[in-house]
Amino acid sequence: MISLLGSIIEAASLSGLTFIIKDVIDKVFIEKDLEKLKLIVFLILGLALLKQFGFILKEYLFPLSLAKVVKNLREEIFHKIINADFSAFFGKKHGDIISRATNDIEAFRNSMIFLGIDFFTQSFTVVAMIFVLIYMDWKLFLIFLFATPLFVVSFNYFGEKRKKYSKKVQESAAEYTQFLNQVISGLETVKLFRKDFILSVFRKINETFFKNQRKNALYDVFFLSSIEIASYFAATGIILYGGIRIIEGEITTGSLFSFLSALLILVNSIQILQRGLLQVKVVTPIIERIQYILNLPQEKEEGLEFQTLKNSIKYQNVSLKIENHYLLKDVNVEIKRGLKVGIVGHTGSGKSSFVKLLYGIYRDYKGEIYLDEIELRQYNLASIRNKVAVISQDVFIFNDTVENNLKIVKPDATEEEIVQALKKAKADFVFKHKDGIKMMVGERGSSLSGGERQRIAIARIFLKNPEIVIIDEGTSALDVETEKYVMEEIYSHFSDKTLLIVAHRLKTLERCDKILFFENGKLIKEGTVKDLNL
Ligand SMILES: Nc1ncnc2c1ncn2[C@@H]1O[C@H](COP(=O)(O)OP(=O)(O)O)[C@@H](O)[C@H]1O
Ligand SMILES: [Mg+2]
Repeated sequence: MISLLGSIIEAASLSGLTFIIKDVIDKVFIEKDLEKLKLIVFLILGLALLKQFGFILKEYLFPLSLAKVVKNLREEIFHKIINADFSAFFGKKHGDIISRATNDIEAFRNSMIFLGIDFFTQSFTVVAMIFVLIYMDWKLFLIFLFATPLFVVSFNYFGEKRKKYSKKVQESAAEYTQFLNQVISGLETVKLFRKDFILSVFRKINETFFKNQRKNALYDVFFLSSIEIASYFAATGIILYGGIRIIEGEITTGSLFSFLSALLILVNSIQILQRGLLQVKVVTPIIERIQYILNLPQEKEEGLEFQTLKNSIKYQNVSLKIENHYLLKDVNVEIKRGLKVGIVGHTGSGKSSFVKLLYGIYRDYKGEIYLDEIELRQYNLASIRNKVAVISQDVFIFNDTVENNLKIVKPDATEEEIVQALKKAKADFVFKHKDGIKMMVGERGSSLSGGERQRIAIARIFLKNPEIVIIDEGTSALDVETEKYVMEEIYSHFSDKTLLIVAHRLKTLERCDKILFFENGKLIKEGTVKDLNL
């Protein structure tokens, strides 16, 4: 609001200045009045300083409040992303989401800065100048009015074009971010591919990006220029008609100069204002792109608290379908509490999907999954996830110390607990490092080997106090010896918990009470290792 006040002060002082021009010319220069000159000079200085005061208020306070809005927006977007239902991400490019959360927010901020700073000041200036002009000389003002249809036509035509291309620019930016993101995260592998092919893909993206920006700039300049041209015609008419009236003695020279300077300010303001209004048009597709994230389907937070598993996990006619493709079909099984269950089957047979259902990755499955007679979907998801520990092939490691990478599952874990967990996971590399648990691991754990990353993931489950432990090929990157050691630790540490182990090496499953055999999304056999002749 104060920044708005700044805009008003600025516009009002500017109108005052245009009025003074009349007196400067008529009273001072033509009548040669020295006393008037002294007075007017101070008046001009005063008004100019007042205008700057308004300018400073506006230029500082508006960006400041906008920065606060954007800060909150970023936080809200982050919330929406981490609470998003997984189904929202199926088939989506992650780079696109990242781009919406970065490039689009930045574009939004720029548009708003432009809007907030120029839009209000210029609106006030336009209104003030129109009054000034009408008051000064309404007949001259009528000439100016003839140019308005041109302003309207140019605004509509170029506005649509600019809207279209600014949307395309944002899409190109997203594509660029997406591609760069992919290449950088897989650089080791990318280096093995044909460089000319990757370069050609990149060049195509970059070229489109450039073309969209070029069109955007082109329509912007055409738009501004069309307004100027329209105003040249108006000004020519005014000088002609005004000149005739001066010659005939109807008006003073000062009034025409006053009028012209007010007119110049008006045209300049209209130009900036139209650009601002255009920015409103342009910002709508950007806002839509941001809104897409704000509207991502969210996981529900309500529901029953899951505490402990007392009796069993029961899948009843469970089917899971994504876009006409069955990941699981009619699965029926009961897993008693404390049982150690092995899960086997060919790649793509549905093993991971089967276990992922338990921690709420897929919510729109058919059939029921009961945890102690209560359907999974009635529980509060977070409470289930607190009680499920998972080691899978994808290990999430963020750019921080080993210690913090473990605290992510238990923020108040003591150093002793962390060391114990790492020992159980046979993460000896940490103790060999000079920084110990303060050792830094690169982004996505890039400074660690596959086996080392997996050990971090394994150490995490020892810090949790889970009811259900899921190992989805989570020891596959370990050597046979270490895998055996770690599995022993897991079996003994979680001896009374329910264990689900997806594995290819059958040796890992020797101690399982029960084996589930999947094929094409169906549970086709279940029994002991002996029963199934594995
Ligand atoms: N998010 C998904 N969207 C579509 N299809 C998927 C998705 N996740 C897995 N699939 C497909 O479902 C099938 C089963 O996958 P998965 O359960 O991961 O198999 P497994 O763990 O036994 O190798 C595979 O054909 C896989 O391509
Ligand atoms: Mg799998």
